[in-house]
Amino acid sequence: MAKKKKVLVLNGPNLNLLGKRQPEIYGRLTLDQINKKIHALAKELRVEIDIRQSNSEGELVDWIQAAPGNFGAIVINPAAYTHSSVAIRDAIIAAGIPAVEVHMSNIYKREEFRRHSYVAGAAVGQIAGFGVESYLLGLRAAVRQL
Ligand code: DQA
Repeated sequence: MAKKKKVLVLNGPNLNLLGKRQPEIYGRLTLDQINKKIHALAKELRVEIDIRQSNSEGELVDWIQAAPGNFGAIVINPAAYTHSSVAIRDAIIAAGIPAVEVHMSNIYKREEFRRHSYVAGAAVGQIAGFGVESYLLGLRAAVRQL
């Protein structure tokens, strides 16, 4: 039987602070609590996942570069790098596997600088504004790409 393809779930800078960081925008769940929900959905969808977080742009780029072969799709919340990182955009294009961009907040409803995403042009699609549900919708979308 063909090896089941896995989904890589990536989180960018400051998302390790979820729970205490601007709870009025991002809610009160910690990243660990969010990850438990993503793992529960992955089990239901019978897909293997690997969830990682980094505050470093280079580390995220390294993980994206290494993804093909091990993973069939990526779910990524690039956090602040969404609005600044050509490197992450280029890495996703180079990796050549589908990526779903997710944001907990609605980035179009906030400050002007959040309205532009460098990652969006490299992603299959974007889900923003649904809190923790953005990750769950993102995983469902990514699984459909496998
Ligand atoms: C975010 C939105 C970004 O603008 C912000 O820098 C984040 C989180 C979100 O999930 O809503 O860190 O990606």
